[in-house]
Amino acid sequence: MQQLNNKQILLGVTGGIAAYKAAELIRRLQDHGANVRVVMTKAAQEFITPLTLQALSGNPVHTDLLNPEAEAAMGHIELARWADLVLVAPASADFMARLAHGEAGDLLTTLCLATHAGIAIAPAMNQGMWRDPSTQANLQTLIDRQVAILGPAEGSQACGDIGPGRMLEAADIAALAAAQFQSGSLDGVKLVITAGPTREAIDPVRYISNHSSGKMGFALATAAVEAGASVTLIAGPVALATPERVTRINVESADQMHQAALAELGHCDIFIGAAAVADYRPANIAEQKIKKNDDNMTIALVRNPDIIAAVASHPQRPFAIGFAAETQDVLSYARGKLKNKNLDLIIANDVSDSRIGFNSDDNAVTVVAETSETAIAIASKQQLARQLLAVIAEHYYAKNVK
Ligand code: CTP
Repeated sequence: MQQLNNKQILLGVTGGIAAYKAAELIRRLQDHGANVRVVMTKAAQEFITPLTLQALSGNPVHTDLLNPEAEAAMGHIELARWADLVLVAPASADFMARLAHGEAGDLLTTLCLATHAGIAIAPAMNQGMWRDPSTQANLQTLIDRQVAILGPAEGSQACGDIGPGRMLEAADIAALAAAQFQSGSLDGVKLVITAGPTREAIDPVRYISNHSSGKMGFALATAAVEAGASVTLIAGPVALATPERVTRINVESADQMHQAALAELGHCDIFIGAAAVADYRPANIAEQKIKKNDDNMTIALVRNPDIIAAVASHPQRPFAIGFAAETQDVLSYARGKLKNKNLDLIIANDVSDSRIGFNSDDNAVTVVAETSETAIAIASKQQLARQLLAVIAEHYYAKNVK
């Protein structure tokens, strides 16, 4: 299974004899579907050339913090934002010390400070260095800060010693990197998500619709599966591949989406309405293609059912979450919808900001509950979906004891 499909892994390589294994690690990460970019410290370049890792990753290797050319291509903050996971392998004793102390003297440590992504390190060093109390204290600091520690293994070392400090094998590191995305926070929970636009037919060849891409709903489905949930995605017409392990039900109109949603109740714990449902549909669908006659024409429209409101007022009501895409007074409109539709949470986003929303790849939202608001800063829809799911899980368990 490609557990790192569409995941962006920033691979940091530090100086140590195990640096040569970074070449194979890139391949193993790619086997899992990852897109890999490499950052090398100065010392790492003494052990393996940037050119080798560039050829394998298919991306330029980043080495300098203060190189204007590299910064112009992809600045260090952009790189920090790009990453879904920062994986440092091998992580030397020196790197662990610098990370534990929050230093930012080179590109890799700076990225580790700047990123919102998780950090995982695969230590590799002489067994004496590993056992040293300074390294062990740094290790504890990193563990306390939620840095994932992959390995090290025990065995014979390049220096002739035997003991702990060998870097794990590339295949094991890749598998553990993939496991970082499987949070388990929604283990056994059943989620239903609506996504994309709806299409309301006018005649056999025409329809009313909107520009929703479905990306946010699909990203939520992926993140929910990774969090351990079983997920049904009710999708309007969008050109997106079905995420792995997700059950997809394709629909066209709001009516069909409504029927599909109601059919899921009874075996649904959390319902997320991420679809941009058309509020109205033509009162009549012409049986034949409508021919042009007059200079003006009028299409009578009738209201569509409000799907999320119907779900939230159903006797078998799941934990219900809606979206509010607004262009002004975002939070107050969102609060209004939370109340009117009887929702547990509403996810508000400001679609007047052209960097986020409908057809863009990024989003920034505020999760509004009855008594709280949680803002999530701009990030790719994939990264945002993972953060959103963590907030959703917290609210869900506060109401439904685990
Ligand atoms: N929604 C729904 N069924 C509809 C309309 C909307 O389930 N017929 C859901 C959307 O999936 C989303 C939320 O309701 O979760 C959006 O709320 P809504 O008030 O319908 O948003 P707008 O259509 O933007 O409303 P308005 O024009 O009033 O701002």
